[in-house]
Amino acid sequence: MEFFEVIEKRHSIRSYKDVPVEKEKLERLLSACLKAPSAGNLQAYKIYVIRNQKIRYALGEAAFGQHFISEAPIVLVFCSLPRKSASKYGSRGANLYSIQDATIAASYAQLAATALGLASCWVGAFDENAVKEILGLEEEKPIAIIPLGYGAEEPLSPPKENIEKIVKIIE
Ligand SMILES: Cc1cc2nc3c(=O)[nH]c(=O)nc-3n(C[C@H](O)[C@H](O)[C@H](O)COP(=O)(O)O)c2cc1C
Repeated sequence: MEFFEVIEKRHSIRSYKDVPVEKEKLERLLSACLKAPSAGNLQAYKIYVIRNQKIRYALGEAAFGQHFISEAPIVLVFCSLPRKSASKYGSRGANLYSIQDATIAASYAQLAATALGLASCWVGAFDENAVKEILGLEEEKPIAIIPLGYGAEEPLSPPKENIEKIVKIIE
């Protein structure tokens, strides 16, 4: 799929078919994530790939009952590694770069998913401590939960702002 078609076709999908994701597709997607830019190329993030049904359900609970999450056969949880980035960049690494690293990688995951004919949704509304407990995280800070699978809906594109409202050109 051509890049700009991928951009046009990516939508937040909140309903998934009960169809597994092929191993090869998952591997391609994860490899794409690892190509993302990161501060100092430290890649201060971790990606959890969850297939376990009980854990997927628990993540839906932790996301304040957003149970479409566990409909998807795979749930990705992108976490930042504040200490890893802090080792080179101090508090800016801990509080900003590590979050940006994880966020950019997660964006790549969403675009790669679309290019592979898969669906996803960024889920940011969750109880951070609950997710940490479910996954047994210590150092990692969960940033985004991304259900991944074959979409069971084709939503219309939500309206986006006009370019003039968002972009300020300074000459
Ligand atoms: C930081 C962030 C947090 C989000 N949290 C949620 C969420 O908790 N649940 C959800 O269903 N969608 C969530 N979304 C998806 C947005 O609702 C969605 O991107 C937006 O409505 C635009 O739709 P589109 O992705 O189809 O363009 C989140 C998106 C971002 C970037």
